[in-house]
Amino acid sequence: MIIAPSILSADFTKLGVQVKEAEKAGADWIHVDVMDGRFVPNITFGPMIVKAVRRATTLPIDVHLMIVEPEKHLQAFADAGTNHLTVHYETCPHIHRTLENIRELGMSPGIVINPGTPINTLEELPQYFEKVLIMTVNPGFGGQSFIPSMYEKIRKTRDFLKKNGSKAMIQVDGGISPETIKACYQAGADNFIAGSAIFGHQNGIAAGIKALREALK
Ligand code: DX5
Ligand code: ZN
Repeated sequence: MIIAPSILSADFTKLGVQVKEAEKAGADWIHVDVMDGRFVPNITFGPMIVKAVRRATTLPIDVHLMIVEPEKHLQAFADAGTNHLTVHYETCPHIHRTLENIRELGMSPGIVINPGTPINTLEELPQYFEKVLIMTVNPGFGGQSFIPSMYEKIRKTRDFLKKNGSKAMIQVDGGISPETIKACYQAGADNFIAGSAIFGHQNGIAAGIKALREALK
């Protein structure tokens, strides 16, 4: 079971300190949300911040690219120290080539689909990704509400992967909290991204991670 705090909700004036705090509190990966103001309405950060996070932690860095033409930037994210790189199906007309390029650059390839994108888009390529990210909100912002119909989508994705003999992880992103995490797990997810539930927890980062782990029991 992977818990990946999303630094989108971190305090950027002390990013390194907070990443270290998350590591110490038992985070498994650090999730970095890259947004371009085109594919999604918001703009965040790029490879330079990944490089900075790399200096702050030895944990695997999980980069979620919400940008048009992600294929142009794969090398830069590899060089910055990315371990897991996930691209949106909706941004990749040549998704097979993009996933293969990610692997060739030494990163673990993941594919992510928006709430409105059907899972049959995954059908032709199960052997080319190691992780499916099911967006459980519309990407672009932290702190949004989980979309309840995504439980069924997680279930369908798990069935599909099983049928295809794929051991890919199912990651969920958006609105993950102590209230939603257990049902995601029961539906078949094994990798949980959380921003506001961790960095926005009233008692601090460690308490946020602990509350998620407790809810999974
Ligand atoms: C949203 C991002 C998420 C975001 C989740 O587009 O992909 O990773 O940080 O934030 P919360 O956990 O607050 O919904
Ligand atoms: Zn994300």
